[in-house]
Amino acid sequence: MKPSIKTVDFLVIGGGVAGLRAAIELAPKGSVLVLTKDKPTESSTEYAQGGIAVALSDEDEVGIHYDDTIKAGDGLCREDAVRILVEEGPGLILELISWGAEFDKEGSKLSFTMEAAHSRKRILHSRGDATGKEIERVLINKARSFPSISRFDFAFTLDLILENDRCVGATVLRHDTVFNIFAKAVILATGGAGQVFSRTTNPMIATGDGIAIACRAGALISDMEFIQFHPTTLYFPAAPPFLLSEAMRGEGAVLKNTQRKRFMPEYHEMSELAPRDAVTRAIVSEMVKTNSRHVYLDLTHLDKEFTKKRFPLIYATCLQYNIDITEDLIPVSPAAHYIMGGVYTNIYGETSIKGLFAAGEVASTGVHGANRLASNSLLEGLVYGARTGKQAAHYIDKENIDIAGIESYPEGFSDKASSMSALDVEKTRSTLRQVMWNKVGIIRCGESLSIAKKWLDKKNAILDMSFQNRRGFELKNMLTVAQLITDAALARKGSVGAHYRSDCKSKGDNWQKHTACRKDQTVTWID
Ligand code: FAD
Ligand code: SIN
Repeated sequence: MKPSIKTVDFLVIGGGVAGLRAAIELAPKGSVLVLTKDKPTESSTEYAQGGIAVALSDEDEVGIHYDDTIKAGDGLCREDAVRILVEEGPGLILELISWGAEFDKEGSKLSFTMEAAHSRKRILHSRGDATGKEIERVLINKARSFPSISRFDFAFTLDLILENDRCVGATVLRHDTVFNIFAKAVILATGGAGQVFSRTTNPMIATGDGIAIACRAGALISDMEFIQFHPTTLYFPAAPPFLLSEAMRGEGAVLKNTQRKRFMPEYHEMSELAPRDAVTRAIVSEMVKTNSRHVYLDLTHLDKEFTKKRFPLIYATCLQYNIDITEDLIPVSPAAHYIMGGVYTNIYGETSIKGLFAAGEVASTGVHGANRLASNSLLEGLVYGARTGKQAAHYIDKENIDIAGIESYPEGFSDKASSMSALDVEKTRSTLRQVMWNKVGIIRCGESLSIAKKWLDKKNAILDMSFQNRRGFELKNMLTVAQLITDAALARKGSVGAHYRSDCKSKGDNWQKHTACRKDQTVTWID
């Protein structure tokens, strides 16, 4: 199949907070094409509940936000990246408000809530628990106001196009047509990889495509062992692991085991507001002790009208399962939520490949260290989306890249269909997700990781296959990401932040270094 051709100045792959914010920054500098693999709003950004952290309240300071972020990151945050996040965050939030974002208020003042591991109330929220939807709405509207930004929806990026070691575009599958889209600079903003695990809060689009695509192109990938498992998602037969926001504990909800006993004070001085990894492991420990598949989240002591008003989406969703959160205990258990690692970038969003930039959850700036502080991710998308956009514009000014001169390019897509049936693809996807949850999940050890590695390696043939549809290509990407996570988790023989190994509970050698990996190479350590 001969690909159709498109040419733009900037190609932004992803339409969540990071991609849109980058596109807005680039709009005055040239033509920008934003790709989404599904409908424009289908992203983690759209589903974000709790809010966005920012040091804007009277009782807060950027220095305190910095300290809390560093502490949650358990010694592995890149300090310059954190400083940028907390210092540039307030200005970008005020800008978002000036573009029409409506955050909840108390009287005429912004209302800030508490979340785990924050020492101040600093989380802005919108319509209670629909913060992401509001941010996505405002950014989509703002992007629409620039004639230089166009969109290409349901456009699945297969691979990057490289010419003389420089990224100059991407190959994209849209319905049955393959496109080679040439661009002077490419920004990856494809979000996370939660779908690699069988229990996840992440939407279906989160299959780690950006990480796999960059890895295939030879980019440096780092910190892949650090997966954040959210402590509280709905555990109910036939229900998906719907997120029950940490803000609920911020407002006073408590965790109880199946014997109705509150347990967090026995595990951590911050009780229910301990860092996420600590709460998640405490829940697992109580589930084991009580031989149960869940614990409970209890809000029944809070004022009923307050609960309904503060968490309208969660209230309505739980009611669909006959759980009235104002009266009933909510069965909860953890699920994969966020990936701290990804495509290695510096503080300007530059990856190890010229012309390729990355921002948001797909990127590994080191801003979250070994464990992300709650509600820092939307802020990261804004801050690093904008910075990456700026840098990409600077890059094309400086380098004077002529993409019109490119004559030969890889097709990136073969007519040779894989030998896997649609059923095989679904079955392998499902088993891969189970293997990752059971063997590379919240508590890992050398033995469980080796079993996973063996299973994943047996599927290597899939990595060379070409498919006819998105599901097959996603499987290929999920396999790459699963291998990267497992290899990094095997390499880190110690427990730091969200990476917990029952066979090495201390931090271990090299613990202050970051794991790094390139295609077909073993894991190494970088500063
Ligand atoms: P996303 O918003 O996920 O966007 C990814 C984009 O990439 C999508 O447009 C998608 O279509 C596109 N894409 C992916 N692959 C391809 C491909 N192959 N080709 C073309 N396009 C592609 N964080 C907070 O700070 N506060 C919160 O309250 C909060 N709540 C959360 C609640 C839930 C349920 C979830 C899942 C996450 C939450 N997070 C929260 C985390 C946060 O929402 C995400 O980390 C953040 O939104 C990621 O933004 P992003 O722009 O990097 O990616
Ligand atoms: C939540 O609302 O609990 C999610 C917040 C986050 O992931 O930062």
